[in-house]
Amino acid sequence: MNGDAVHIVAVAGPLAMESAYRIRRHVFIEEQSVPEEIELDSDDAHALHVIAYANDRAVGTARMVSGGDYAKIGRMAVEREWRGCGVGRRLLDFLIGQARDRGYGRVVLNAQLQAEEFYLKAGFSPDGPPFEEAGIPHRFMRLELPPQTS
Ligand SMILES: CC(C)(COP(=O)(O)OP(=O)(O)OC[C@H]1O[C@@H](n2cnc3c(N)ncnc32)[C@H](O)[C@@H]1OP(=O)(O)O)[C@@H](O)C(=O)NCCC(=O)NCCS
Repeated sequence: MNGDAVHIVAVAGPLAMESAYRIRRHVFIEEQSVPEEIELDSDDAHALHVIAYANDRAVGTARMVSGGDYAKIGRMAVEREWRGCGVGRRLLDFLIGQARDRGYGRVVLNAQLQAEEFYLKAGFSPDGPPFEEAGIPHRFMRLELPPQTS
């Protein structure tokens, strides 16, 4: 499987949103045993949701919410059989691009410790000690977005 064949789109409409929820259900609720009442939260109503499609099949998702002068990325999930071929990085880069286009000065996220390297490779820096969220060790990470010069 090749991540180059994947395209990323912003969710528009209930059918696409259902696909995003389906992936999150597989990855977080079923695979990682995150309680449903924590996985689905009030930020979903106003977040920018994105989906990675491979040949019309939704294989990954993530979301971004505004925190004022920063954007917060979360719920980054790729279906297991599609991991390791660049889908996650495409989703992350797409959302960083969206944050930049919207004028945010930085992007933050709570990274699961097991995924910290994934975010380090995309330029994020760890900030502070590990903490637990939904029974999973996390660390706060940030990426500064310098103002564009053009
Ligand atoms: C974390 C996740 C989103 C990464 O998506 P992915 O499509 O597998 O990642 P990519 O293939 O785009 O990887 C990009 C780079 O990060 C590395 N990477 C990805 N996940 C990694 C991990 N868990 N640990 C270490 N490195 C990782 C890849 O090896 C690759 O490195 P390279 O550029 O040197 O080849 C995916 O594994 C996933 O959905 N995991 C389960 C849910 C989860 O943990 N979400 C994150 C919550 S914070």
